[in-house]
Amino acid sequence: MSNPSETELIHMFKGIPFTTRSSLELLKSLDTFDAREDDVLLGSYPKSGTHWLAGVITKLYNTPITLTSPIEYGDVSRLEELNKLSSKRIIPTHLDYNMLPSNFKNKNCKMIYISRNPKDTAVSMYHYYRENPHLPTVDTWTAFFDLFLEGDVVCGSWFDHFLSWEEHKNDKNILFLFYEDMKKDLPKIVKEISVFLDIDISDDNIQDICKKSSFSEMKNDTEKENSDPSHTVCALTSNRKLIFRKGIVGDWKNHFTPKQNLKFEEIFNEKMKLSKMAKSLTYEF
Ligand code: A3P
Repeated sequence: MSNPSETELIHMFKGIPFTTRSSLELLKSLDTFDAREDDVLLGSYPKSGTHWLAGVITKLYNTPITLTSPIEYGDVSRLEELNKLSSKRIIPTHLDYNMLPSNFKNKNCKMIYISRNPKDTAVSMYHYYRENPHLPTVDTWTAFFDLFLEGDVVCGSWFDHFLSWEEHKNDKNILFLFYEDMKKDLPKIVKEISVFLDIDISDDNIQDICKKSSFSEMKNDTEKENSDPSHTVCALTSNRKLIFRKGIVGDWKNHFTPKQNLKFEEIFNEKMKLSKMAKSLTYEF
């Protein structure tokens, strides 16, 4: 964030860095959003597998749905545009739980929160920063590593984000998923999602959805698309092609030095000491 034009890429809202592609007026107005009882919200910290999850969910429905761009993305007219949609809405967001429009909570909307080993999330986000002209320049992995641990990146601290959602782990309307579990046994997770969303689906259909949601299939599909900024479920970019990088578990090992790993673990253990869900993270791989 060194030169003046770069500082224009990011602004703060309630202590959290957002890209200026989320207007302050929109962020301030979120609480007025008119949620509907059948809205489904997809919550995630960036680079946790949001597009993958969205790809699976859109294939599950055999009734009309609209996958929107993230609720916090754009200017204040977004809320009106979302209001005009007549079909069932699948709405992604990188907001932490406390910032969600309160109508989603009051109306008990179903929400799915996907999380990922924060070490892999950090590496994925580093590459995303490097490729994305809408994010500040980071020169080295070492510099980014420190920013990530300090929460000085878009959407703020991974730890705070995760903990804000975890506080609601017993809420019946929220399903918590992990990227690593999707990698390990996608059919099982697709089944879990379909049960949560009350969608009847055969085992054959599940197999088909898994095939169509593989990393290579999704990457190929995206490469065939024209770049359409409204066709991404990430609030940070206008180019969906940047999303599909490696799609693996454990890439952090190719980036973290032993010293960085120790520092990360120390901070993770301190920040997550009261977290029960942190123990479910496939953290060491
Ligand atoms: P990598 O950068 O580690 O490859 P998000 O959608 O939240 O921005 O997350 C992007 C991450 O999910 C990227 O991770 C991307 O490769 C990975 N991803 C996207 N689609 C995937 C798929 N079908 N299977 C596995 N990983 C996928």
